[in-house]
Amino acid sequence: MATSYATVQTAPIDGQKPGTSGLRKKTAVFRNPGYLENFVQSVFDGTGGAEGKTYVIGGDGRFFNAEAVDIIIRMAAANGAARLIVGQNGLLSTPAVSNLIRKYGTDGGIILSASHNPGGETGDFGVKFNAPNGGPAPEAITDQIYDRTQRITEYSIAEQVACPVGQPGRFTVGETLVDVIDPVADYEALMQELFDFDAIRALFAGGFRMCFDAMHAVTGPYAKRILEDTLGAPKGTVINAIPSPDFGGGHPDPNPVWASQLVGIMNGPDAPDFGAASDGDGDRNMIMGRGTFVTPSDSLALLTAHAHLAPAYAGKLAGVARSMPTSQAVDLVAERLAIPCYETPTGWKFFGNLLDAGMATLCGEESAGTGSDHIREKDGLWAVLLWLNILARDGRNIVQLQQDHWRSFGRNYYARHDYEEIPTEIANALMDSLRAGLAGFAGTEVGSLRVAAADEFSYDDPVDHSLTEGQGVCISFDGGARVVLRLSGTGTQGATLRVYLERYVGKDGDHGMVVHDALEPVLRAADSLARISERTGRDKADVIT
Ligand code: G1P
Ligand code: ZN
Repeated sequence: MATSYATVQTAPIDGQKPGTSGLRKKTAVFRNPGYLENFVQSVFDGTGGAEGKTYVIGGDGRFFNAEAVDIIIRMAAANGAARLIVGQNGLLSTPAVSNLIRKYGTDGGIILSASHNPGGETGDFGVKFNAPNGGPAPEAITDQIYDRTQRITEYSIAEQVACPVGQPGRFTVGETLVDVIDPVADYEALMQELFDFDAIRALFAGGFRMCFDAMHAVTGPYAKRILEDTLGAPKGTVINAIPSPDFGGGHPDPNPVWASQLVGIMNGPDAPDFGAASDGDGDRNMIMGRGTFVTPSDSLALLTAHAHLAPAYAGKLAGVARSMPTSQAVDLVAERLAIPCYETPTGWKFFGNLLDAGMATLCGEESAGTGSDHIREKDGLWAVLLWLNILARDGRNIVQLQQDHWRSFGRNYYARHDYEEIPTEIANALMDSLRAGLAGFAGTEVGSLRVAAADEFSYDDPVDHSLTEGQGVCISFDGGARVVLRLSGTGTQGATLRVYLERYVGKDGDHGMVVHDALEPVLRAADSLARISERTGRDKADVIT
């Protein structure tokens, strides 16, 4: 039967401006008639049209994923796309999409995910366009897309009943070829190229035990196949392995607060050697040793220090990059390795140019994102495999590695305090008054600390020299402590104030303090300078990670 196409009249919908990572809204908002369609049509129109192009399409399996994949396939077909590569059942992790775009040289990809935000009918949903380099579209492109959302008058869609994405194989929608693929195979092949799988296999064969918490999200099938089937980790190593539309009712956010089941296991009497978790769409990671949590900032530093143990990185570290609020632990490693360390705004898209230009090889963010030049997204399972590769080749366990690291480089105590769902006006007023006061901060004594410098971070991209301003306020103190304050760009309700606290203790100092105690003076200074409790009416953060 010939496919028929419809051109549907529509009108602009407010607020379709992509944030730190694509367009994220309540699921209910995305389900409003025309909401998804308007945005997807704007993605095509804002990137020169879909005619003749190839896209990768998939998502993290959250509620509305299946419907959205179906709509996007039919819209891409109606807009003249030549070919679509779709994950079986509409599932693809974010790193897997990035790999597929690069491997098959497509014109980009569309990812359905709100990452670590809760899913379900009352949760969040999101759509992100990734560019042909495999990375999140840079601002120049998202601005074009946003511009289209404000002028859209119609969208096109193929009128076809549900697309058969349940089995690998090929079907067509009109002239458009749709290839449904096994979501794991290409990703696993890439991991095999990067890491010493034989060494990791030997590690598991020798009785090494780990627990990987997939948090009911998309990495379940990836972790099961790679860790259990290929690398020989015992069955049951991966827990919460079946993706569910509402992530088992939890937050698929791999941090000590939301991955509490894993934390319990790793702090329990029979704790395995290694614990890890990943988020909704598989790009984040959390790392634990027996009874120990490795902060994402420390993880980046440790991975950089030992990456040479993995075949892909031996002698190949051109440089490292971290987002501005991420602790400066990796800077010390880069200095010792005599490689450059770049400081970028928050959001993975800012690493893209550095990776494309071969200036950075590893990158990371304090928000549990770590990755390398193998793709253009952060990659949760990649980080876990790099850790496994290092553990297999080094012989020390995580606790020893971390302690030796601190003895060699010093320790950057670190925590992030999030104040969630603050009324937007209050959050903006807080940041505005902080900015207004910045010039006068230097030299101020706050408690036991003295402000060394205070400014607002702006980024002059060393590759294309684009300037990104207003990327967070940074106040540093004598002795190396600092606090960074910024508003989240991924929330869907009110504003979230993120306060990042860091304190450096040199290599001969005390590395055994309770993190909260070590950071207490920095927190007090932050509160006094930014008047957080006074302005928000909160005496403490909602989430501390
Ligand atoms: C958050 C994280 C940031 C990360 C982004 C997307 O953004 O802080 O590091 O890149 O999610 O995963 P934010 O909400 O702070 O804007
Ligand atoms: Zn994510």
